[in-house]
Amino acid sequence: MTNNDKEKNLSRFSEYLRQARVVTFLTGAGMSTESGVPDFRSNQGLYQSGINEEIFDIRVFDRRPERFYQLAADFFGSIRAAVPHKGHLAITRLHERFEKTVHVCTQNIDSLHQDAGNTDVLPVHGTLTSSHCRGCGEAFPAERVWDAIQARSVPLHQGCGGVIKPDVVFFGESLPEAVFAAAERAMVAADIVVVAGTSLSVYPAAGLPALRRPDSRLVLINHTPTQMDVEADLVFHSAISEVLTAAVDGL
Ligand code: OAD
Repeated sequence: MTNNDKEKNLSRFSEYLRQARVVTFLTGAGMSTESGVPDFRSNQGLYQSGINEEIFDIRVFDRRPERFYQLAADFFGSIRAAVPHKGHLAITRLHERFEKTVHVCTQNIDSLHQDAGNTDVLPVHGTLTSSHCRGCGEAFPAERVWDAIQARSVPLHQGCGGVIKPDVVFFGESLPEAVFAAAERAMVAADIVVVAGTSLSVYPAAGLPALRRPDSRLVLINHTPTQMDVEADLVFHSAISEVLTAAVDGL
């Protein structure tokens, strides 16, 4: 894409946003890299650093929780230190300044969309802000898990001896039903769906944009190509912060 094409596509994106009443996002780990949190599958991603998907597998967690609590420290440390970037803030401007109805379906567990002031965030892969005992189901505040992650030790429930796990969705677990149902409704309601920073390789989240209405627009922002590029109205293989800021500035 030449610079000219990019400018034209950015004005088209602004125009789509101007025409839309409801804007629904699906974001992935690439949304957070510019805040210093690594993604999973790109060259600098978590899965290239000697860690693989097993760390988030519930069967592995239940057998050997110490693996998760030993390996997660750096990753979760980067989440703790992260603050929203101008791409997150551009999404906030869409509803605060331009009065769009904005739904943010996210696979991210880092709460950066919420920190940026977005009010309708649907974390379909759960959250780090709460946790539960795998033994008896008792709920614990986030701090209990954070302290254990930092200490690289397994947090145990004093009462039943069960292992405490953050409420993030591991492979082999169901997605939070009500949150996922709301994300499905948000896709159907959208006049424009913006997919940003996801390789679209993990289902069912990756299937959400396919629920959009035939008359809605689809815009993809991802450094690398995805399977949905062919059906999108606009594709940007560029940095999310740059594209979202420019598109919202152009409104
Ligand atoms: P991936 O790591 O699979 O994909 C992130 C995508 O974002 C990559 O294709 C990058 O090229 C792109 N990217 C990174 N930084 C970017 C930037 N600043 N601007 C534009 N594009 C950028 O992450 P997800 O698709 O989110 O699940 O992964 C899905 C799920 O797999 C995660 O929720 C997690 C993981 O295993 C669980 O842990 C259950």
